[in-house]
Amino acid sequence: MKLLLVADLHLGESRPSSTHEGIIRQANSQASKKLSELIPFFNSQRFDLIFQMGDIVRETGDRNLDAPFYKNVFSLLSSFNKPLINLLGNHELNTFTLEELKQFYIQSNLDSNFFGSKIINCYQIIWLDHQINSEGRQYLSDERLEWLDKEINPDYQTILVSHYSIISNDMRGNFLFEDKPQDIYYANSEDILDILKKKEVILSISGHSHWISYKTKDNINFLSVPSFSENIAAENYPDNNPAIYTILETFDSSLYIKSFSGKFCFFSLEI
Ligand SMILES: [Fe+2]
Repeated sequence: MKLLLVADLHLGESRPSSTHEGIIRQANSQASKKLSELIPFFNSQRFDLIFQMGDIVRETGDRNLDAPFYKNVFSLLSSFNKPLINLLGNHELNTFTLEELKQFYIQSNLDSNFFGSKIINCYQIIWLDHQINSEGRQYLSDERLEWLDKEINPDYQTILVSHYSIISNDMRGNFLFEDKPQDIYYANSEDILDILKKKEVILSISGHSHWISYKTKDNINFLSVPSFSENIAAENYPDNNPAIYTILETFDSSLYIKSFSGKFCFFSLEI
């Protein structure tokens, strides 16, 4: 099995940071070009499944300004020649409603089921969406928790993919979330874990935090993968889009996870 994971594309205009005054760090304006350059390589690989893991734009909040960014990214995603799953990010909902967003995907003939599952060889891949509670935090609805509990198939090894992390993580030093570590994981984390603990879940992969982290809890591996656009571009190089993606490949009974910037691997993990 071979999966491609592209997280937090954040296509848009590079603007000063909203969290660090005066700093321009995000190379959003180059995300489209970088992704477009990588697509022939992606299309030449034998991926069973591609995950676009949410946060496809860096929105302005102005519908007229943001619509072309969506059009651009949907056009690029449409040129992938392997099955593509799209996850729901938080940024998508800052300008458009969920229903409007789904319509955009449908109009581009792209999958808009933000949760689901698929069997590949001896693995079951499950992807999750989220809802927003009255405090503005993301959570998994009761309906989805019930679905997850029933959906996990004990005959397979399960891998979860979600925009949000299922568990908390050390966010010290994180450019975006150091002051709000609670914003990287589901508010009802314990409810989700209660389900996973009873099952054969080997790995949970998330995006959103923009950096790599790895830890184990309750015998489950938890990994966050870096953002396509914003990780290693330092403040003096606002136009240096790192074009980061992650490949998960299985061999015998091991999982090999590698993150690349362009052609070059800078992170490797074997589980
Ligand atoms: Fe996000």
